Amino acid sequence: MTPNDHDQIVAAAALLRAGGIVAFPTETVYGLGADVSNLSAVRRVFEIKKRPADHPLIVHFADSSRLHHWAREIPEQAWQLAEYFWPGPLTLILPRSHHVPENVTGGQDTVGLRVPDHPVALALLNALGPEGALAAPSANRFGRLSPTTATHVREELGDAVDMVLDGGACKVGLESTIVGFNNQTALVLRPGGISLEALEEVLGSKVVATGRKKQAVRVPGSLASHYAPDTPLELWPTESLWQRAIELETEGLRTAIMTWSGQNPERPERKNGTHFAMPAEPEVYGSRLYATLRRLDHEHFDRLLIEAPPDAPAWMAIADRLQRAASCIPDSEVKTDDCAPSQ
Ligand code: TXA
Ligand code: MG
Repeated sequence: MTPNDHDQIVAAAALLRAGGIVAFPTETVYGLGADVSNLSAVRRVFEIKKRPADHPLIVHFADSSRLHHWAREIPEQAWQLAEYFWPGPLTLILPRSHHVPENVTGGQDTVGLRVPDHPVALALLNALGPEGALAAPSANRFGRLSPTTATHVREELGDAVDMVLDGGACKVGLESTIVGFNNQTALVLRPGGISLEALEEVLGSKVVATGRKKQAVRVPGSLASHYAPDTPLELWPTESLWQRAIELETEGLRTAIMTWSGQNPERPERKNGTHFAMPAEPEVYGSRLYATLRRLDHEHFDRLLIEAPPDAPAWMAIADRLQRAASCIPDSEVKTDDCAPSQ
């Protein structure tokens, strides 16, 4: 649909006002939206996602100049980032105003706020009026890949959602960059569509990346398959990737290799596997990552072997998602802390 599909937007807004749940496209991933002020609709979002009630939702609204309606004690840096990057893939964590009910933020005094850069999302938010907003997590079940098309949303949630607005494939394809503040310092809590360097450039000061993992080979982690995709995933540097595939295939496992570098020393001795070449540009790779993992999942390989991305700023969000996914192969002896469920 296009934002000009006025009837659909009107119908979606009416559904939301009546307490319904509407999945909608954003530039990052699809969101699962409820009217922020409707307690039972927000509760239903948690139920549909099977998400613990203490995991906060992001509040989406249309007009960045109304940030003060949703937050209080807003530091100057937050205004600067909002002005520069909104609409866009940036979520700001700020003390919540009384317009944000406690169940949206999982009981926290802070709220995640974002103005999405998608014409359908903005049309929907505008249809809710100046005081309207959508509490929306990514439209996947807890612990699975975020959907980047309307079809993925239907696959994930089926009839549990009242309406899915189809805005095509998401341009960014990875979730927003989440930024919090500690005194005068901006902290990246989740790398995403906006790089740390871009934030620093706008603020003119250092931004701290919290929880950034050093690029490392990731072999199986500990928790039962909480992290998407369903197929166990391993991350290997270019030089070991193909050897690892041969090892696993010798054990009788079917493997899929996913590369970015174009260095594809196809090994004739591979018997039981396939190879998928991704683009070497991080923006394009990022926009296709979840959709590609979903497609590979459908083919039921025993193992996905992913070429580790470059240790470069533009690949940070991709490396973050892959490292988390790679840490959670079930039944492994290796324990890691990275198996926190995706949300
Ligand atoms: O790109 C995105 O951010 C997408 C689209 C739909 O906007 N949304 C998304 O939402 O990824 P979700 O719920 O899947 O992830 C939101 C993340 C969670 O890790 C949550 O813990 C964090 O944001 N978050 C939300 N509010 C927070 C808060 N008050 N304090 C700390 N973290 C918060
Ligand atoms: Mg999520």
